[in-house]
Amino acid sequence: MPSVTFRVFRGDQAGGELKDYTVEVQEGMVVLDVIHKIQAEQAPDLACRWNCKAGKCGSCGAEVNGKPTLMCMTRLDTIDTSKPVTVRPMKTFPVIRDLVTDVKWNYEVNKKIKPFTPAPNTNWIMYQEDVDRVQEFRKCIECFLCQNVCHVLREHNEKTGFIGPRFLVRTASLEMHPLDVENRLEMLKNEGGIGYCNITKCCTEVCPEHIRITDNAIIPLKERVVDEYYDPVMSFFRRLFAS
Ligand code: SF4
Ligand code: F3S
Ligand code: FES
Repeated sequence: MPSVTFRVFRGDQAGGELKDYTVEVQEGMVVLDVIHKIQAEQAPDLACRWNCKAGKCGSCGAEVNGKPTLMCMTRLDTIDTSKPVTVRPMKTFPVIRDLVTDVKWNYEVNKKIKPFTPAPNTNWIMYQEDVDRVQEFRKCIECFLCQNVCHVLREHNEKTGFIGPRFLVRTASLEMHPLDVENRLEMLKNEGGIGYCNITKCCTEVCPEHIRITDNAIIPLKERVVDEYYDPVMSFFRRLFAS
């Protein structure tokens, strides 16, 4: 069996360092298998969050050779193992220990989004095309890799209040729901900070569920905000009906 060296972050909020572990690997292994092997054979105190090992729980996000990814879905034959493979925790969130980060900020952000509000007396008939449009957004597994990679959150998070791509996807799933009557555009424009997104599409590139975050969620939401607040014709009618 060939040997591969993994360079894994060990530490906590106070600081840490990359530590080398050389392990024997087999065909078909994923990065999470190697982390488990390191835990079993060399470092039983290595902290790592995981649950399903099937790309569905969203727990095992990390940065492998600098790329945000799910460790359980990253096969060794897709990365360069001729050199030490670096595994670090997600950079945008505070480290708890080793590869485990504190992602609770995301759940606070989620509270800004008004929940599903169906029209009263709705008869709940939905057409397939309406189902298809929001179905893509429902695939989100809340891995927060998109939040991790977005430069707005990475560099300016607390100053902007930007809710980030994951929560733009969630807002889109509600705003585009045919039975929902709530209006979330003011939240998007103001405290949600949608204007901070400059469409870099890094979020879309890392999404393990291949949700077209930018094209199908963010851009249509931006268009709705522009129509609502900056379109002169819409603005005229709003003032007309408000008076
Ligand atoms: Fe993860 Fe994609 Fe959901 Fe973002 S949108 S949290 S990358 S599954
Ligand atoms: Fe960030 Fe995605 Fe926009 S990476 S800047 S939310 S397109
Ligand atoms: Fe569940 Fe990786 S362990 S997504």
